[in-house]
Amino acid sequence: MSHTKLVNNMKNIIITGGAGFIGSHVVRLFVNKYPEYNIINLDKLTYAGNLANLKDIEDKENYTFVKGDICDFEMVLELMKKHKVDGIIHLAAESHVDRSIKDPFTFARTNVMGTLSLLQAAKIYWESLPEKYEGKRFYHISTDEVYGALELTNPEGIESPFTTKASSAHHHAYGTEFFLETTKYNPHSPYSAAKASSDHFVRAFHDTYGMPTIVTNCSNNYGPYQFPEKLIPLFINNIRHRKPLPVYGEGLNVRDWLYVEDHARAIDLIFHKGKVADTYNIGGFNEWKNIDIIHVLINTVDRLLGRKEGEDLNLITHVTDRMGHDMRYAIDSRKLQKELGWEPSLQFEEGIEKTVRWYLDNQEWMDNVTSGDYQNYYESMYKNR
Ligand code: NAD
Ligand code: DAU
Repeated sequence: MSHTKLVNNMKNIIITGGAGFIGSHVVRLFVNKYPEYNIINLDKLTYAGNLANLKDIEDKENYTFVKGDICDFEMVLELMKKHKVDGIIHLAAESHVDRSIKDPFTFARTNVMGTLSLLQAAKIYWESLPEKYEGKRFYHISTDEVYGALELTNPEGIESPFTTKASSAHHHAYGTEFFLETTKYNPHSPYSAAKASSDHFVRAFHDTYGMPTIVTNCSNNYGPYQFPEKLIPLFINNIRHRKPLPVYGEGLNVRDWLYVEDHARAIDLIFHKGKVADTYNIGGFNEWKNIDIIHVLINTVDRLLGRKEGEDLNLITHVTDRMGHDMRYAIDSRKLQKELGWEPSLQFEEGIEKTVRWYLDNQEWMDNVTSGDYQNYYESMYKNR
């Protein structure tokens, strides 16, 4: 029996948003690593949910998929009772900043009301049990964007004072400040405002009702199965097809990139060993200016496709900047490393090579997503179940 099971004794776990990018990696990790758990993937299958992301584990005994909306409180409560749920790992959200600028209502509905609906269902179900909140966990996945934006005090980059195994070979930081767990919330986009609001509700359920909650705030993730509206998969696909690369503004904004499986491993560790009511930042100290990462993508795709390296640099097209575009994100994850011993496994240069290869080798996945065909997969897979 694993040590983690002795600590918590949790067995029946709902993972929300498990058909999305990060969620699919978390579901895969839990289903494969914990055969004694029942993993219930609750996902509405919005445009961002794709069951093809989980093809390799969909027939496993310990895995159940439920198509449903987290805003449907009655359904969530019934699901919790039916499966005697003792843990929730909550990833379901509207996640794309540009969409939130166009349609903020959807973000408030899913990210705020959806989170509240899960919290309230968990409260009613867990409080109805003799053991109440004993051995239970509500783990909410949040983002570094709730902290706002840091200044670009060193636009040319300085040597970062902190590194991890995930840090790129150049070890650059573009400012001297980092987001800490204690940094005051200061969200700017409708997406981050909705995420911040949901974080507050999660903490309020701990402070008011004693629910055992945990919140983590992670930096930008990259890796396989990311929807090609986000920078990295969108640009890899465009370079492959020699389509223009829409760089917002000058491309000088800085993001802090972490390989998605390292985020999933952190979630596993924190779910089992994290301190109730606490917050952990997750990130690998790996800052990149957008324009630099775009050069890496062009060079890598060109090399792997046997084109002359850098041949496609002319695809770079500067377009109107994103409204309210946050300048720099940089996460300080030293607390997670120190208290729980988390260390990312993949250096950025390895991770980006692996990611570009994955998208080039899985053109069928990409074609399914870009054509919209993936949305028929649920019907064909589940209509007789
Ligand atoms: P994603 O957009 O790829 O996936 C979201 C998933 O949630 C989809 O499967 C979608 O169908 C599902 N969903 C959306 N609305 C739903 C609803 N009402 N009910 C049930 N399911 C619903 O998102 P992602 O990039 O994998 O992000 C997952 C979580 O991690 C989000 O909470 C996001 O805020 C957070 N996060 C993301 C990043 C990142 O870099 N992608 C970084 C830090 C934190
Ligand atoms: O920091 C964590 C966040 O990272 C998550 O909470 C969000 O869910 C996730 O979407 C991501 O947000 P970003 O806005 O940083 O990611 P995106 O891939 O949309 O953009 C990365 C950077 O690239 C950003 O500075 C905007 C820029 N960009 C993006 C796109 C899609 C472009 O220049 N052109 C583009 O076409």
